[in-house]
Amino acid sequence: MSTISSVVIDEAVQTLRNGGLVAFPTETVYGLGADAKNPAAIKKIFTTKGRPSSHPVIVHLAAPEKFDIATVDWAALVSPWVQNLSAEALRLIEAFWPGPLTLVFKKHESVLKEITGGQDTVAIRAPAHPVAQALLRKFKGGVVAPSANRFGKVSPTSAADVRGEFEGVLDLMVLDGGDCQVGIESTIVDVSSGDRTVLLRPGIITPHEIFAKTGVQVCLPSEINQSAEPAALPRVSGSLRAHYAPATPLRLYAPGRVLDALSEFPDIKSRVAVAVWDSESSLVLDDHPSIDVEEVVVSSDSADFASKLYRTLRDLDQQTWDLILFPEPPSGEEWDGVRDRLQRACFGSGPSSRSQASS
Ligand code: TXA
Ligand code: MG
Repeated sequence: MSTISSVVIDEAVQTLRNGGLVAFPTETVYGLGADAKNPAAIKKIFTTKGRPSSHPVIVHLAAPEKFDIATVDWAALVSPWVQNLSAEALRLIEAFWPGPLTLVFKKHESVLKEITGGQDTVAIRAPAHPVAQALLRKFKGGVVAPSANRFGKVSPTSAADVRGEFEGVLDLMVLDGGDCQVGIESTIVDVSSGDRTVLLRPGIITPHEIFAKTGVQVCLPSEINQSAEPAALPRVSGSLRAHYAPATPLRLYAPGRVLDALSEFPDIKSRVAVAVWDSESSLVLDDHPSIDVEEVVVSSDSADFASKLYRTLRDLDQQTWDLILFPEPPSGEEWDGVRDRLQRACFGSGPSSRSQASS
């Protein structure tokens, strides 16, 4: 279901105006939304998620109806939130909004410190999901929304996931817009420095695609001389090593090396879930007759893989596996987003490492 009645949207708008929280679908993952002009409501997001207040959140803005897209004045929409909109940033917006691209700008002085974690930048995006758009258009203001999961956990891609995350904890309105299509969080690009554009979080929109559509060259944080400019990289909670983490231990295996990955866990009891590419034949683990291996087929198309990644991790995490193994994603920029999420999920996974995880 990707549409929702206008009565429900009206109720959600009212909830936001009253300082309440509304979880809503975006094309990437579900967000936990609050009025971007209400400091108390924003604080509620942090306490609900268990997220440290120093981690900034993204402001979500309405995009105009499709038929107005060609004539939309993006600069007018964004300018109340930012200090300055460069020609390059405007090109990125025109090419990718509404859509899964978040831009980090120098913030307008009116942007609340609760949003930015005290930094002088603000992250903004216009999501494409019709339910998010209906909510934002009717609300007529910015809505801050981190992913609607407990701090450090796997992001939710369905309304049921959100309800499961916050079960019994609060009076939370959840808009059900069906399953998220993109499946991993938006690409984040920093345009705040004025002279270069930096990738802060890989996603489905890649630097190559950005260059092809806009001519804007996006550099990687590793390409910046960090020692010369220690303040160049803003805090990004998604940049913590442990993130997006299931409670079941998760590891990656190199092509054909399932046994090597298993040998890392000599005391493994019996039940192991192994994700295998749809393009590969079945695993044969004759050497381990005592291990009950279940194969889960995953797509070898990067976008398809991304769209189901969190769903698969959540489903496996709810079953009683001792270990989950995923194949290492192939090299190539289109895999960077899922490789990034999988590596962090591995690092934070398992019951003993829960406390290391970050949002
Ligand atoms: O796809 C998405 O971006 C989803 C949907 C709900 O829009 N949102 C999302 O929010 O992933 P969250 O809070 O889970 O992750 C946002 C990331 C965090 O890592 C945060 O640190 C970073 O964006 N961020 C927010 N404001 C920033 C800023 N001013 N500078 C640098 N990073 C920022
Ligand atoms: Mg998150």
